[in-house]
Amino acid sequence: MTIDKEAPIGVFDSGVGGLTVAREIMRNLPSEKIVYFGDTARVPYGSKSRETIIRYSRQIIRFLLEQHVKAIVVACNTASAFALETVKHEFPVPVIGVIDAGAQVAAAETKNKRVGVIGTEGTIGSGIHETVLHRLDPEIRVLGKACPLFVPLVEEGWLHDPLTTEVAARYLRELKDQDIDTLILGCTHYPLLRSTIGQVMGEHVRLVNPAYETALELKALLTDSGMLSGGAAQEEFPYRFFVSDLADKFKSFANSILPYDVEMTQKIDIEKY
Ligand code: DGL
Repeated sequence: MTIDKEAPIGVFDSGVGGLTVAREIMRNLPSEKIVYFGDTARVPYGSKSRETIIRYSRQIIRFLLEQHVKAIVVACNTASAFALETVKHEFPVPVIGVIDAGAQVAAAETKNKRVGVIGTEGTIGSGIHETVLHRLDPEIRVLGKACPLFVPLVEEGWLHDPLTTEVAARYLRELKDQDIDTLILGCTHYPLLRSTIGQVMGEHVRLVNPAYETALELKALLTDSGMLSGGAAQEEFPYRFFVSDLADKFKSFANSILPYDVEMTQKIDIEKY
């Protein structure tokens, strides 16, 4: 297969959350084009089964390949936890997720070898971080906590609300009591709560944002495989967005977090794929 270096990167998530990953790719790889898919009709993924998430991920990857992407980033932590290992061998382009890069930084950063992970029920229940972190360092103790209310709070825009601080204090109490020194923000939405989570955990706890680390992993992958865009003249719309439902709602959230005006958002029927 010949590689078109100027082809876009495919990025997908269960909805709007993966825009935190797209944002880091835009910042760190400004010459790359992006095709983003948010599965807004079938969100949330965090409370669904592995089989369902694998089926959804395969459909989305088929759609992205139809857009001629050169690589795919599974921006959703739940889809990375449940589907990545299965789907990454099934398609002709590299597929990376958001778990490994975050785990690597956490393993490198922790001093007391006590790492916390927060995410959806699916991600935490999968035990994926423990598996990856133990592969890197079997002595690391991994403490997971599902924080399901964080996603709706972020989507409501309550990023700096006293109620959000109260919810965070309740969820994070047991991790604080366990004396972790590193915390992986293992869900697409959580980087948007970084200041609240940081305030609750205290300055001595290092917060790891897998969105940023994944953008760096993608950069290394494209560089090493000779697939980095040569920085050819950017198209008028270098970033294209697709959703499975309610394009307007997606657009207003996207415009609130991206340094870019999201005009091109199109609804597609993902069940066709
Ligand atoms: N994108 C999901 C994740 O990172 C959170 C939202 C959902 O449950 O679908 O796990």
